[in-house]
This record gives sequence, structure tokens and C-alpha cells, in this order.
Amino acid sequence: RIVNVILSGGVGSRLWPLSRKNKPKQYLNIFGNKSLFQLTALRNKNLSNDILILGNIDNCLLSQTALSEIDIDQYQQIIEATPRNTAAAIALAAFAADDEDILLITPSDHLIENQVEYEKSINEAIQLAKEGYLITFGLVPTRPETGFGYIQVKGNDVVSFREKPNLETAQEFLDSGNFLWNSGMFCFKAKVFLEELKKYQPMVFDTSKKAFEKLHDNQLPLEESKEIPSISVDYAVMEKTTRLKVVKSDFNWSDMGSFESLYDYLKANGKPIDKHGNMVIGTDIHTEFLGIKKSILIITSDAILILKKDKSQKVKDVYEQLFVDK
Ligand code: GDD
Ligand code: MG
Repeated sequence: RIVNVILSGGVGSRLWPLSRKNKPKQYLNIFGNKSLFQLTALRNKNLSNDILILGNIDNCLLSQTALSEIDIDQYQQIIEATPRNTAAAIALAAFAADDEDILLITPSDHLIENQVEYEKSINEAIQLAKEGYLITFGLVPTRPETGFGYIQVKGNDVVSFREKPNLETAQEFLDSGNFLWNSGMFCFKAKVFLEELKKYQPMVFDTSKKAFEKLHDNQLPLEESKEIPSISVDYAVMEKTTRLKVVKSDFNWSDMGSFESLYDYLKANGKPIDKHGNMVIGTDIHTEFLGIKKSILIITSDAILILKKDKSQKVKDVYEQLFVDK
């Protein structure tokens, strides 16, 4: 059995104010008439037998509505009481699956435009996963992005995996030509992932297991969930395991994680920018920029954000100042 595990637990804080707690970015129709979440489910429909959605209490209804709109009515949902990051989310999916199930882990906020190439990569990964490897998908990097993981490759073999390097290191990786970006999607047997997690992050393994044992009505208990260390799967497992393989992939891929990537995508698809590289998102009101370059203005019905394009990663701080209790 091949299970598509859709991770939909992030709030998308780097896309505030487009992305809101009650409507995170993956549920917005920024790209035509379907949301990134819906596009994710549709992309994997013919590749897997089952769908398992991992999300939180605030967005479980959004997921249900989104799936019914695209006529998908067979799926399982696990509702997290509090976000504990991707190592735990994937562990919970693995506990819910059978040992031999192949899990195809997909984030819900990516845009992938070449379905044929995509399916080719996934099918290659499924074969390697059956042999007991953990599979990552590597993409040729185009800039020294510090928000991604980097995979040092030799054919299908992984020499090393490095999550979110600093700018200097990212530039070195880019220059060396031996590194690929980690797409953030993974493919492996449930039991293989759990073995590696237990080996390298026994606390995450044990606490997730305890929480999972108290799953009730598809919901995880809050008290036990709070005990789970919050760490991403990249740091927890991918940087450490020796059972990692990579499928070099060639589909058009964008992580719509920040305004910088949104800007690049919209620009490439014909959205106008002015002669100084400024872009307006969310309104058709005529806007002029004076003495301001490479900036983005975002307008929604109740909030405005103006930022320099290269400050895109910092939007998270604005969001946290505004909304996260200290
Ligand atoms: N269910 C659940 N619970 N999902 C979560 C949680 C959680 O606690 N935390 C994050 N997610 C979801 C997000 O919604 C997203 O779809 C996915 O898991 C990945 O999390 P991000 O927070 O977006 O990760 P990232 O972008 O910083 O880094 C990952 O993706 C990059 C490519 O986009 C890493 O895998 C990098 O190595 C990779 O390059
Ligand atoms: Mg992301």
C-alpha cells in the first residue's frame, strides 16, 4: 500500500497578512481556482491508494471542505492538539500506517508544474523505498537559499544532508555543484522511518508513540502532545541517517513559503513589476513607488505589509510579535 501523507500543520507565518491563522496559505486560492492543498491532493491521487492528512485543530475543517470541493471523500485525518513539527507529524503518520506501507510524505504548500516528471520521480522513489531506504527528492539549486536543506549527492547516494545552512555555506554548496536542494517531500516504508527515528531521536519516538496511543476520534491528546520535542524531520533524521538516497528530480518546483518565492513565481508568470522591481499584491489600485526598490506591498481587507523583497524570511518575526503569546 502506498499512502500519501499530507502535512498541513504550518500556519504560513512568513506569508502574513495573506496567510492567516483561520486560513493558512495552503488553503488560499492564490494560483487560480484551486488551493495549494487541493493541488497537492490531486497531484498524488493516482500515485497512492490512500490519503492521510496531518493537520491541527484549527484547520481540520478547512481540509475537509477543500477535499470535498475536489470530490475526494476517502481519506484519514489525524488532528494535532498542538503543532510539534515534522519529525513528530511523520512519526504519527507512521504509527497510523502498517509497517510495510510506503509513505509518500508531501508538504501542502508546494507548487509543482510538471506532472509527468513528477510521477517519474515518485515511481523511482517508491522502488528505492521498497528496498528499505529513506528517499529524498533533490532539485538543482538556483540561489543560495538559507531556508532549505541541501543534499550532497553522488548518483542516488547521499554523501551528506545539511538543513538550513547560513548564507556563506549555502553559497559554497551552490558553487561546488555537488549539492541539490531538498524538496521537503520524502518516501519510505513506515517501519524504516520509525527505526531511524528511534535510533536518532528516541524522545520524539517515545513521546509521539504515547500521544498516538491516546488518539481518540482522530484527535491527539493535548497533555501528551506537549511532551513531544518540536524538531523538524530534517534535523531529527535526515541529517543523521545512513539509509538516505536521493532521486534527482526535474519537475518545476516552488516552495511558496515566503514572499520572495511568491514574487519570483508571479513575476515569471506575467505579474507586472515596476521599473525598480516593486510588486503590488492584493489590489488593482494604481500604486507608485518613489525611492523604493525591490519591495513588495501586500494589501488585504484588514492589514497591509510593505517589505523589502530580501527581508521575506523576517515576516515570521512580525507575525510572532503580533500573534504569539510571549
Ligand atoms: N501536521 C503538521 N504538523 N505539519 C507541519 C508541522 C506540524 O507540526 N510543522 C510543519 N508542518 C508542515 C508545513 O505545513 C509544511 O507543509 C511542511 O510540514 C514543511 O514544513 P515547513 O515549516 O514549511 O518546512 P521548511 O520549508 O522550513 O523546510 C522543509 O522544506 C524545505 C523545502 O520547502 C525542509 O524539509 C527543507 O529541507 C526543505 O528544503
Ligand atoms: Mg516550507
